[in-house]
Amino acid sequence: MQIRHDWTKIREEFPTLSKKNYLNSCSLGLLSNRSRGALTRYMDLWTELGAAAWYSEWMAEISAVREGFASLINADVDEIAVLPSISAALAAISSSLNLGEGDQVVTTALDFPTVPHHFLAKSKTGVETAVVASSDRISVDLDRISSAVIDRTRLIATSRVYFTSGFVQDVGAIAEIGHRKDALVFIDDYQGNGQVPIDVKAAGVDVLVAGGLKWLLGGPGIAYMYVRRDLVAELEPTVAGWFGNRDQFSFNPNEMVFRDDAARFETGTPSVAAVFTAAEGLRIVNELGPEAIRERTSALTARLVSRLEDEGFGLRVPEETERHASITMIEMEDPAAAVEELARRNIIVDHRPGAVRISPYFYNTQNDIDEVVEALREIRTALEP
Ligand SMILES: Cc1ncc(COP(=O)(O)O)c(C=O)c1O
Repeated sequence: MQIRHDWTKIREEFPTLSKKNYLNSCSLGLLSNRSRGALTRYMDLWTELGAAAWYSEWMAEISAVREGFASLINADVDEIAVLPSISAALAAISSSLNLGEGDQVVTTALDFPTVPHHFLAKSKTGVETAVVASSDRISVDLDRISSAVIDRTRLIATSRVYFTSGFVQDVGAIAEIGHRKDALVFIDDYQGNGQVPIDVKAAGVDVLVAGGLKWLLGGPGIAYMYVRRDLVAELEPTVAGWFGNRDQFSFNPNEMVFRDDAARFETGTPSVAAVFTAAEGLRIVNELGPEAIRERTSALTARLVSRLEDEGFGLRVPEETERHASITMIEMEDPAAAVEELARRNIIVDHRPGAVRISPYFYNTQNDIDEVVEALREIRTALEP
């Protein structure tokens, strides 16, 4: 049975909401009082304990984020690595695959650029990157992805939720496509995790990454990587550091023995401040539950889409509501000017080429939605007479 949350009360956790209509969580999730308190606690421990903070509390909080992320995606703690960014996760995995001459990687034109960029930079070592096109800028046909996967494909790297359209991909189907050709499947779940439930075991993906910045309410400087258990031992990165060493505290410069768990993909000292704010963000998301969050954001998104359609706006959104996450693209002639004018009215949204992007989260209300639609209607009249 799903718990009924008091969403109005939950809003009090996020002080920004008392001043702004904040509809930009896919750029940056809001800071909660709890994360602010955690950051203060981190600094207090540093002040009081100095280096001893590492052993008594800081390491424990690193374990807490591992646990928090694992429970969110139905993984085990030893399948989770804590990293600074998705780019670092890509480096860990592609170095483990030892990609080189003739190897091919498949990604798509709608993926966040850090994914294609990572592989395109390897072209000088003979790695080919197939960037599968989208015909509508909303989704990428699974048949096209399937056709791009060839015998030389080592990896499919793509998102569960596209950052420019809010489309939720069928990652289970993508896993099947990859595995048919013995390619691994790397899912960038930065835009899905927290707002759309995922069970990595059921989906059958090999690697899934997400970061603290957005729907996980953790702020910048932290990312999480799930690696399927039976793959962990097979993958030995060539980008490495002492946090990935099994005997980290033996300080032996002559031997690199990787840890048995997914922490082998970790390299250097983590940003503990980010770990503290992120741990609290993960606790909030886990307590609310991604199912309840999805129900809430789906209702907000449905209202947003229907009100915008009533007003005659051109939308770039998935047709099926179950494939539409909480990211809505509204086509406008001058999206930057619209975003600026909305900000003047204390309504915070974002823009990407050709469109205004609105991304409500569980802390938003139907009033927030009505307000932004009304403001957009006025702005359109002023900007596009
Ligand atoms: C889908 C997606 N992937 C990755 C990133 C960020 O990648 P990195 O952690 O390497 O900065 C973002 C946004 O910042 C994103 O929206």
